[in-house]
Amino acid sequence: MDKLLIQGGSTVSGEIRISGSKNSGLPILAATLLATTPTTICNLPHLNDITTMLALLRCMGVGITVDEKMHVEINAQGPIETEAPYDLVKTMRASILVLGPLLARFKQADVSFPGGCAIGSRPVDIHLRGLEAMGATITVEDGYIRARAPEGLKGVRYLMDVVTVGGTENLLMAATLAKGTTILENAAREPEIVDLADYLIGMGAKITGAGTDRIEIEGVEALTGCTHHVMPDRIETGTYLTAAAATRGNVVLRDTRADILEAVLIKLEEAGADITVNGTTISLDMHGKRPKAVSFKTAPYPAFPTDMQAQFTAMNAVAEGSSTVVETIFENRLVQTHELNRMGANIKLEGNTAFTTGVEELNAAPVMASDLRASASLVIAGMVAKGDTLIDRIYHIDRGYECIEEKFQALGVSITRVTGK
Ligand code: UD1
Repeated sequence: MDKLLIQGGSTVSGEIRISGSKNSGLPILAATLLATTPTTICNLPHLNDITTMLALLRCMGVGITVDEKMHVEINAQGPIETEAPYDLVKTMRASILVLGPLLARFKQADVSFPGGCAIGSRPVDIHLRGLEAMGATITVEDGYIRARAPEGLKGVRYLMDVVTVGGTENLLMAATLAKGTTILENAAREPEIVDLADYLIGMGAKITGAGTDRIEIEGVEALTGCTHHVMPDRIETGTYLTAAAATRGNVVLRDTRADILEAVLIKLEEAGADITVNGTTISLDMHGKRPKAVSFKTAPYPAFPTDMQAQFTAMNAVAEGSSTVVETIFENRLVQTHELNRMGANIKLEGNTAFTTGVEELNAAPVMASDLRASASLVIAGMVAKGDTLIDRIYHIDRGYECIEEKFQALGVSITRVTGK
């Protein structure tokens, strides 16, 4: 199993390009199942989760041509196999996103129950209840979600109990081909939903309100392929900014967007970072200073993203002062604090709250990644630690960060991949 070896005492400094968004690319790839003619998706990040989604589409009979820049031509004209098998779905929770498109276009879908990051129970009940409200019959058999809508889906007004990104995406995609109008209330407002809606609109869907908590979709007969550029990855952007802040460094990140990262930028400024935005470039400079501790609570967009919590917790571990971080989206998403404490951090965990008193320096230790963003926090901790940190189970990080060693090496960090059994 591959590991990452990080030499401590690095300062993150230099310039890199930000990749396309994983969390936008995944639903967009699922949405290609809705198109009756070929479609082209550009700026996809080269990540294990994206490869898994492409493999899933391919095994359903979708034609896929990838060029060297990860521009992917996708042809879902058919015939399409409407089953998403366990072997592929188990490695990635986002596989559930094929459920809505399959059901909407082919009136049936059999999707294995999803796996993915071990950060709490992560149910999909709202995805299923929403599709039932649109007229589908859903049963669970042999670990498979079996959904049927022989007469097609119908438009409905549906209020989601919890703000769910994946649930909103699944129902949004399903509604594009439903008969009549669907109104999704209490919808997630994440930028990735806007990107997905833009792609669907490009294919002929009628959608208004994406990016607000009320999305209205007027069903159409069919969707046809188009070309779409995936938006930049705001979590990758935030991770490199936080790494620079934690190591008292300075970075220039190109091809990204500041407008979708406001909560994170505000907190980084509170930590003492000097941030400049120039078009699609974000620059951060700590002027060599130690970061100040920042407190926050995670919540759905536009509040502070849960996907940035672990990286900030690592920064807080070496910051000046004390902080309180409350995780409200996922249970078990503060698990990385135990590994940080093994490296000398002073973090007390009480339920879903982490109380951190910053220390001057961490000490290197062999640590284990437990989920995608937790592994990013261990990489940051490794950089600010004294000695060499070896991070195990980095397959988690490969799911979400494109060329992480190459990018950090370009930023002056001594980080290498140790390949092993
Ligand atoms: C997406 C992101 C993930 C991010 C999360 C929250 C992708 C591929 N992944 O995950 O990186 O951390 O949003 O911003 O985009 N819930 C239910 N019932 C459901 C669905 C969700 O109770 O049917 C709960 C979950 O347990 C969780 C909360 O709603 O507590 C939010 O989950 P959700 O927004 O659905 O996360 P994902 O779409 O899986």
